[in-house]
Amino acid sequence: MEEKKELMRQIKDEVVDLKKSPLYKYRTENNYLPVIGEGSHNAKIMFIGEAPGRNEAKTGRPFCGAAGRVLDQLLENAGIKREEVYITNIVKDRPPENRDPSPEEIKIYGPFLDRQIEIIQPKIIATLGRYAMGYVMTKLSLEDKLEPIGKMHGRVFAVPEEALAKLGYKGCEVKVVPLYHPCVAVYNPHNLDSLKKEFEVLKDL
Ligand code: URA
Repeated sequence: MEEKKELMRQIKDEVVDLKKSPLYKYRTENNYLPVIGEGSHNAKIMFIGEAPGRNEAKTGRPFCGAAGRVLDQLLENAGIKREEVYITNIVKDRPPENRDPSPEEIKIYGPFLDRQIEIIQPKIIATLGRYAMGYVMTKLSLEDKLEPIGKMHGRVFAVPEEALAKLGYKGCEVKVVPLYHPCVAVYNPHNLDSLKKEFEVLKDL
């Protein structure tokens, strides 16, 4: 446990000092914080979002704004405790005006996410939105299964053993579950019910 904490601390230190990131200057000029992740280092489920928004960059906590309130409802409805899961993003700094993360940013921050997966070794990786889905499915050798998120959401994909071995997993099954980003229910509350149903997949697993 101490070792996991230390490895996460190293990730934090490196991200804090990530001057090569195009988002570094924007973070420091605005007194924002990088958002590394939050939750149990022994979590069975890891949620991966896109990038921090304004509230997240102000507090350093993932999903603590409007999308976070939706996520909290979805977790509660599925009977999953927020403190028992691990929640993070691919990109650890806020992109200006909440624009989509660029391929360069995903490339720079992706390896930190890889290390977080290696440390926590979750059995279920739930991706929130198309960027997290694309990154994680590609990283875990499921690239050939990729389709637009409208066709992927709520489905369960088993990660091939070779991809797991590269991330230090030993003899266990890991599933990737692509989900819509909770912000779809911020923009249109009618989407909340279908999101709730999808989150129940996680409980069943
Ligand atoms: N949206 C995300 O993708 N991540 C957050 O942490 C907040 C909003």
